[in-house]
Amino acid sequence: MKKYNVCIVGGGSTYTPGFLKSFVRLQNEFPMEKLVLFDIDAERQQPIGEFGKILFSERFPELDFSYTTDPAEAYKDMDFIFMQMRAGGLPMRREDEHISLHLGRIGQETCGAGGMAYGLRSCVDMIESIHQIRQYSPNAWILNYSNPAAIVAEALRREFPDDNRILNICDQPENIMRSVSRLLNVSWEDLDPVYFGLNHYGWFTHVYDRKTGEDLLPEIKKIIKEKGFLPQDAEQRDQSWLDTYGFVQTMMEDFPDFLPNTYDGYYLYPDYKFSHLNPDYTRADEVIDGREKRVFAECREVIARGELGDRFDTISDAHAEMMIKVAEAIAYNKNTRFIVIVKNEGAIANMQDDAMVELVCELGINGPRRMAVGNIPQFYLGLLVQQVSSEKLLVDAYYEHSYQKALEAFTLNRLINDAKKAREILDAMIEVNKGMWPELK
Ligand code: G6P
Ligand code: MN
Repeated sequence: MKKYNVCIVGGGSTYTPGFLKSFVRLQNEFPMEKLVLFDIDAERQQPIGEFGKILFSERFPELDFSYTTDPAEAYKDMDFIFMQMRAGGLPMRREDEHISLHLGRIGQETCGAGGMAYGLRSCVDMIESIHQIRQYSPNAWILNYSNPAAIVAEALRREFPDDNRILNICDQPENIMRSVSRLLNVSWEDLDPVYFGLNHYGWFTHVYDRKTGEDLLPEIKKIIKEKGFLPQDAEQRDQSWLDTYGFVQTMMEDFPDFLPNTYDGYYLYPDYKFSHLNPDYTRADEVIDGREKRVFAECREVIARGELGDRFDTISDAHAEMMIKVAEAIAYNKNTRFIVIVKNEGAIANMQDDAMVELVCELGINGPRRMAVGNIPQFYLGLLVQQVSSEKLLVDAYYEHSYQKALEAFTLNRLINDAKKAREILDAMIEVNKGMWPELK
């Protein structure tokens, strides 16, 4: 059986330890020869790399594991590259969120002005990294979940039009299905959804029982109406995430047709959401004070002890498991269904062909095969066309270094929706993103 070489770009991410544990758990399903962590921030990556050494020496000793800041070492002879970079790091996520909120609009990691600021940084860093990767591993599969995935996907589509081995994926649709399975008290793998949208902006139109074919959506609606909605891993979540999931109940009262992605709340209720966000303490602060501290403390604790001890089975990591299963589906041509980001090409019949949309796809060695949904209702079409236009204009701004296109993108974004406000926020973002954005003229 072939064993794969894998690189994680963004080795210093708080998500990495969960990945390392999941690679151990799934070592039979997805056998690896070599795993390399890469990060441009040596100091941040070091404790995670040292934690990995202890983990693998105990649980997967045959694996050739290393970590590096040298692209040549990281990218050479790879089969799969998992990309989880955060352009600008968490401190810039904090800026994105704080600046927008202080100027009166939603500041969120991937939605609204925050997402667009991050989007331009990610265009710069992702495009540069993938050119570098392709020098060393022209045929590696690049599995990207760096954010904002919608904007990154649009930029990569333009920069690498003939590269069929770049796949953009988000875990949120699967997180929602896992949460629904908790609600229904069934296994999430028995749910067979139909979904359409953009990344972080979509809806489930059906949720079939994989065994019987019954559409469970009516029952799901009933339960959410009565009991609300919780993430599958509610016990491990901060309150802000519980609120985000709980808000699905409100969305379904007003728009009962489909089950929404949790992110739709920002676009459908911007005023309400804005009034519930604290401009001086955002999700970025919560992550910096919470997950980031926790993850690095765990690594340091294991390093100090020199052994894993009880630090193995504590956290189940759905996100990492999903990404490894994506690699497995490609490696073994399994044609498993995943919700991924692909070029529309008629799958949403009344949307433009070159939109990067999120859909159920069968995934195998030749990449994703989309499952068409036909025409979507006018309301959803209206929302999505506005957003896809904003995203495309932002990527135009990147390529053309165009202030005007950026202004149009910001104005058109439903979470800004006013040209004067757009200009004010854009100008503030230009200031703090100096050196990380293309220079807009
Ligand atoms: C979900 C989304 C990711 C996003 C993350 C943010 O998993 O799919 O795209 O980055 O949530 O979570 P955080 O805990 O960092 O706010
Ligand atoms: Mn996502």
